[in-house]
Amino acid sequence: MNNAFLKSFQTLRQVYDERAFSAIALNKTLANCKNQDKALVTKIVYGVLDNDLRLEYVVSRYVRKMPKGDALLFLKIGVYCLMELSLPVYTVVNDVAELAKLSGDKRTVGFVNATLKSVAQRAKDFDDYPAEEVERLSVRYSYPLWALKKLINDYGKETAEQIVSYVPDNRTTVRFAEPMTAEQIEQRFGAEAENTLFEDAFRVKGNLPSGTIATVQSLSSMAISRICAALIPQNGDFLDCCAAPGGKSVYIKQLRPDANVTSCDVHAHRAELISSYAERMQVSLNIFCRDMTEYDQRWKASFDAVLCDVPCSGFGVLDNRPDIKLFRENKDISELMKLQYAILDNCCRYVKPGGSLVYSTCTVFDNENGQNVRKFLNAHHEFEAGSISLVQTAANGQSQYQFLPHKDGMQGFYVAVLTRTL
Ligand SMILES: C[S@@+](CC[C@H](N)C(=O)[O-])C[C@H]1O[C@@H](n2cnc3c(N)ncnc32)[C@H](O)[C@@H]1O
Repeated sequence: MNNAFLKSFQTLRQVYDERAFSAIALNKTLANCKNQDKALVTKIVYGVLDNDLRLEYVVSRYVRKMPKGDALLFLKIGVYCLMELSLPVYTVVNDVAELAKLSGDKRTVGFVNATLKSVAQRAKDFDDYPAEEVERLSVRYSYPLWALKKLINDYGKETAEQIVSYVPDNRTTVRFAEPMTAEQIEQRFGAEAENTLFEDAFRVKGNLPSGTIATVQSLSSMAISRICAALIPQNGDFLDCCAAPGGKSVYIKQLRPDANVTSCDVHAHRAELISSYAERMQVSLNIFCRDMTEYDQRWKASFDAVLCDVPCSGFGVLDNRPDIKLFRENKDISELMKLQYAILDNCCRYVKPGGSLVYSTCTVFDNENGQNVRKFLNAHHEFEAGSISLVQTAANGQSQYQFLPHKDGMQGFYVAVLTRTL
């Protein structure tokens, strides 16, 4: 049996059936995978998840009755390989049919084999998508219809299409504990590295050897950290309200070792992640497990800058988490908005007069971003729009900014800076 197909199937099954996080399930698989299979398994797992809606639609065009469960998953893997990878057709058809033997059902094997043979005839130039324009875009780019309609409402059709059709640069962004140049990275680690808009961050092709003191962090997460770091006065107090796993808190402390950084998260196991990450990076943070929707009188007007990097729908980071498109529903958004606002509404009281409040998400919907901030400013006259300081980006000088991959070259994070005037 084709080992890469088998490993891909097992990993995808965990995501579809058990709702495992794609990155975590894949990392576990890769740890027990032959080196020669790793790239293909990664491609198939991310590819099938990212193209889920489209693959299901293509299957539906070739079958009389839609299969379910494992039978559908065998077909999704096969159709993805036929449409997107340059593997020989006979390898895909035969090896996926072989994989289908795991079902223990001869009819399933025959069905998978026959369906893939039909799909193979025009897999590379399949264009039989729905005629209606929005539905077509949704299927073509595997973007849930409800989410696409939201984007069109927020940005207009042209930008919405740019957002959903963007093909991300899937090279990892890393930064190092000590100053490095791209040349030094290539010489020392043998990995091809490219400069980014931040002098301490590099896009790296291939894997760095294990044990390398490098931190994987997206450019947009670094951008939010840098925006916060610029708002803290000398020896100032900074509060990160939703800090786990600690990506931004740790970087802010590295950028501003003089600052006193306090990091909170509601979940104990996630607060632990902050501790272990801070320890690994050798920075000192004050870490608390707290529900930040609940007021703590002791922290009243105590911080020069407060970051609310709130839980969100995650539609700005689909390149890392394609499973979000599978399981998020429109009704989740209103629940998230309530929690986001509750955190902002509570934690604003911890900002000193003259201090700054930063609101950020890793999503692209106005409901969770601008709408929350507008509501907040209408209700809190002691705050006004502030100014983002980040000269490397178009966000510089604005009070709020939506990063978008197709125009900013980084994930879809949102940030707003507010100043407490009273
Ligand atoms: C977007 S993540 C934060 C990412 C983090 N800032 C980083 O850069 O690594 C949101 C976090 O909010 C936490 N959270 C959710 N509800 C919360 C609450 N009521 N109070 C505090 N933290 C909460 C979640 O556990 C999650 O870790």
